[in-house]
Amino acid sequence: MDSILVTGNGPLSGQIPIAGAKNACLTLMPATLLSDEPLTLTNAPRLSDIRTMTELLGSLGAEVSQLQDGQVLAMSSHDLNNHTADYDIVRKMRASILVLGPMLARDGHAIVSLPGGCAIGARPVDLHLKALEALGAELELKDGYVHAKAPGGLKGGKVDFPLVSVGATENALMAATLAKGTTVITNAAREPEIVDLAQCLQKMGAQIEGEGTSTITIQGVDRLHGATHPVVTDRIELGTYMLAPAICGGEVELLGGRMGLVGAFCEKLDEAGIDVRETEKGLSVKRRSDHVKAVDVTTEPFPGFPTDLQAQMMALLCTADGVSVLEEKIFENRFMHAPELLRMGAQIDVHGGTATVTGVDRLKGAPVMATDLRASVSLILAGLAAEGDTTVSRVYHLDRGYEHVVRKLEGVGAKIERIKEQ
Ligand code: EPU
Repeated sequence: MDSILVTGNGPLSGQIPIAGAKNACLTLMPATLLSDEPLTLTNAPRLSDIRTMTELLGSLGAEVSQLQDGQVLAMSSHDLNNHTADYDIVRKMRASILVLGPMLARDGHAIVSLPGGCAIGARPVDLHLKALEALGAELELKDGYVHAKAPGGLKGGKVDFPLVSVGATENALMAATLAKGTTVITNAAREPEIVDLAQCLQKMGAQIEGEGTSTITIQGVDRLHGATHPVVTDRIELGTYMLAPAICGGEVELLGGRMGLVGAFCEKLDEAGIDVRETEKGLSVKRRSDHVKAVDVTTEPFPGFPTDLQAQMMALLCTADGVSVLEEKIFENRFMHAPELLRMGAQIDVHGGTATVTGVDRLKGAPVMATDLRASVSLILAGLAAEGDTTVSRVYHLDRGYEHVVRKLEGVGAKIERIKEQ
């Protein structure tokens, strides 16, 4: 397995282009299953998770062609010939469950493997299933698979989520576009990825109102048609690279960044003493002084502070002046980066969902490894400002969510290289 070698050095300067959002693309791709006409996505990120979704859609009979070096995904689900999403693919990536709603809505039947747990928490899919049941689906769990049927087609209904779920909102939204009658989703997720999905579905002819609010109303239509849609900017990649100049000093412009994607995150950066300003091409980030202040952070669904930036924020706070308290409210096991940061000299106490970080003067490079995507990148950020060399192993996690991480950080002056396994 490859690893990444980071050598702590001085301030960074320059520009980093931000890609299309992984998590938006992973829900836009299954939307192709809703129509027999082509769906084309532009501004797609080049990531291994996108290749896994391509493989999954291919296994169902959809065609996905990667054009323009993978930035354009031309998809067609004209000839769906298999309605079973196999465990071998689903286990690689939980977003695979997002093919369930669309297949069921279009053809009235689908079999999808249950994804199982993952490193950051149990992550059940009960809310996805309850939402589809509210639309009239008959579900049976057998041998690790969800067998779903809707013989007369799905029917509009009320979907009231007891807790906010991005994926369950996406599955319900896609399924409701082809259900007969009106569906009202309450306590819906409001993430930019949901708005992006709704806008793509609207281009395909879906009747949706209220996306970006907690109540989404969908009037089912008989069929959806083809469309072309650009994937929204990746707010997590954006926030991650915003932290690079915050940690190392200097000034970096994030091309394609928008304040609206990272509002709560920018408020915390401001509290910590980091300036973010809008430029013609994106956002520019610079520390107000050499000292970063400790801040308290609680993760929440959008528009709150994103769980997907908690690990990276912790890397910043390891060298802040004072004590920061981070509360993780979305996933039960999302502090696996903490023991690795300890190896680099950080002072962190974790109790349940709370991590208390006491800032130290400087971290020291060390060999570290991570068990998930955001934890991996937080270790790279920590290594950028640490004294000496940090080697981050298990790079395949990074490849799931960050395209050209070495090239992008090198471009602003970081000392970073990928070490290929011999
Ligand atoms: N939950 C349930 N039952 C369900 C669904 C979710 O109990 O049926 C719980 C989860 O266990 C979690 C909470 O609800 O505690 C929220 O989970 P959510 O469904 O919102 O997460 P998701 O859709 O599985 C997406 C992103 C994650 C991101 C979360 C939260 C994709 C492909 N993944 O996951 O991204 O952390 O929303 O914002 O969109 C990442 O990119 O690193 C990542 C993990």
